[in-house]
Amino acid sequence: MKRNAIYPGTFDPFTNGHLDVLERALNIFDEVTVVIAENNQKNALFSVEERQTMIEEIISEYRGVDVRVLHSGLLADYARQLGATAIIRGVRQVKDFEYEFQMSLLNRHLYPEVTTVFLMPNVKYTYVASSIIREVAMLGGDVSKFVHPCVMEMLNGKRENLHQNKS
Ligand code: PNS
Repeated sequence: MKRNAIYPGTFDPFTNGHLDVLERALNIFDEVTVVIAENNQKNALFSVEERQTMIEEIISEYRGVDVRVLHSGLLADYARQLGATAIIRGVRQVKDFEYEFQMSLLNRHLYPEVTTVFLMPNVKYTYVASSIIREVAMLGGDVSKFVHPCVMEMLNGKRENLHQNKS
């Protein structure tokens, strides 16, 4: 039997920290589906379509991974629908853990067959969060060490648009 996992997140944008976690998950599971959750509470920089495009480009050289968008509904239901028995979450710091712990137990309540697997990225990505990448990139800072070149290009495009709209 194949071991399938989902790797959900907002991924706004997908960072090298996310890729590091994904690579670790691919060492454990046969198939991993990256699930972009459309979170209406968050003010996103990239549309879900743009995020899907960037992740598809990044994973094009990997086997056993695909990308889907969860537009609405519960992640636990979506995991069940896909036949995934694991939910991958990256944890960087202790402060991540409280929310992750709550979410994993709730997801287990909703879908008892699912297990949340916490993976730690390489220590060099400990302080890499999408929110910081967005902020620094929009202010013109160099984040090229933390994102794939295609994400860098898309961030530059967003920054140029931002400046054009302001002037
Ligand atoms: O990248 P993020 O913002 O940490 O991702 C959070 C995410 C998308 C995993 C979380 O918001 C989520 O699971 N959303 C789906 C809706 C859902 O099932 N909520 C209940 C979780 S207990």
